[in-house]
Amino acid sequence: MAQGTSEYPDDYLSPAFHAGRRAAFREKMPERSVALFFASPQKVRNNDVNYIYAPSKNLYYLTGLEEPNALLLLFKQPVTLLGKTGTEFLFVQPRNPQREMWTGKILGPAGVMQKYQMENVFTTDQFSGRLLDFAQLDTIMTSFRTEQILFKYPGRGDLLANMAASLDSALLQAGKTPMPSPATAILHQLRGIKQPEEIALMEKVINMSVEGHNRVIRSIRPGMHEYDAQALMEYEFKSRGSEYVGYPSINGSGANSCILHYETNQRTLQDGDLLLNDCGAEYHGYSADVTRTIPVNGKFSTEQKIIYELVLAAQDAAFAVCKPGNQFSDPHNAALKVITAGLKQLGIIQTDNQARIYFPHGTSHHLGLDVHDMGSRSTLQPGMIFTVEPGIYIPPNSNCDKKWWSIGVRIEDDLLITNDGYRNLSAGAPRAVEDIEKMAKAAGKNKKPL
Ligand code: GLY
Ligand code: MN
Ligand code: MN
Repeated sequence: MAQGTSEYPDDYLSPAFHAGRRAAFREKMPERSVALFFASPQKVRNNDVNYIYAPSKNLYYLTGLEEPNALLLLFKQPVTLLGKTGTEFLFVQPRNPQREMWTGKILGPAGVMQKYQMENVFTTDQFSGRLLDFAQLDTIMTSFRTEQILFKYPGRGDLLANMAASLDSALLQAGKTPMPSPATAILHQLRGIKQPEEIALMEKVINMSVEGHNRVIRSIRPGMHEYDAQALMEYEFKSRGSEYVGYPSINGSGANSCILHYETNQRTLQDGDLLLNDCGAEYHGYSADVTRTIPVNGKFSTEQKIIYELVLAAQDAAFAVCKPGNQFSDPHNAALKVITAGLKQLGIIQTDNQARIYFPHGTSHHLGLDVHDMGSRSTLQPGMIFTVEPGIYIPPNSNCDKKWWSIGVRIEDDLLITNDGYRNLSAGAPRAVEDIEKMAKAAGKNKKPL
């Protein structure tokens, strides 16, 4: 069915995608090994209110499952468990009509088998660590913090902890130690190169994010609040189907633009401020990560423009080295070189190593199911999606002329490495000074009240 004609979105990753990812994972597993992927635990926010459940991204990548209380076992060689022979076994929470009335449908094994086209799906209570024949297994891969936490604090009585505790005691009895690194290494290889279905979702989530940024640029004016910028941004995400934000929105004005991960978003925007918006939507598990820095009154001041254009030149220098075969560190080195030379020329720093005072973070990270995604940091390859995000932050009382104080600029785009270079997936949001000023002015007097 074409998108938009069904009751619910129909552009989720396909069962074939997940089956392909499991096959690719198994291909890279050592002989005589098993990998265990637990769902993330649910987290309490306060009293009897949980945080919105965030599925384990590894489990989601390998199955599509978004429910809590689950465990996936992948074996290199076929085994027989609970009367079924195969390489993939999934344990999920059982149906529970009473709970479903409060919090919605639980798929149960039959629902999971149908929705994700998987075989060998059981309920959590059918799992026991003793099901595993450790004599046949040289490598047991449990990779993630979730498991480590559960192993430390087993027996809390919930379904997930029960499975972790049972596995833990069986491992202890067999004298086996689970190893985190092999599974993590495989997942870095797999998740770091996006498949066509993932690229399609990334394009969607980045486009939603671009629309949010453009809405804020068109609406910006003194007297608005940082939270108004956040609200307009997130309205655009949400009204395009985004389920969550990829990370808490950063809408920092004036001196707050110099706080890298500012999340308070309560200040009133003043005439003459910059506003740094680092905001990205999440869609079907995939996150965008886009930053635009804009003048609150629609026009950059002389000093703001100088710093802004230095960051822009650094970003352009980084873009120029984004191609297959180059190193993941090349964009950062290119950006740092430009920023160092520029800050020296402006008299803001005197020596090269002082650049880190005002540009204290890296330029790139992988982007995908996690905003800081898994992926190799060696050679750039087609299919990688990562950010290019240089910045300069000069907080008040910095050791330089006070005319530079409270200027914080980051420009962040999301790049896909192609066979011969890159595609900037977030190019729809303006970067050049004139283009930002034009977009802010175009709305001009017609700006509607918020
Ligand atoms: N939004 C977080 C980051 O840029 O890495
Ligand atoms: Mn980023
Ligand atoms: Mn960001």
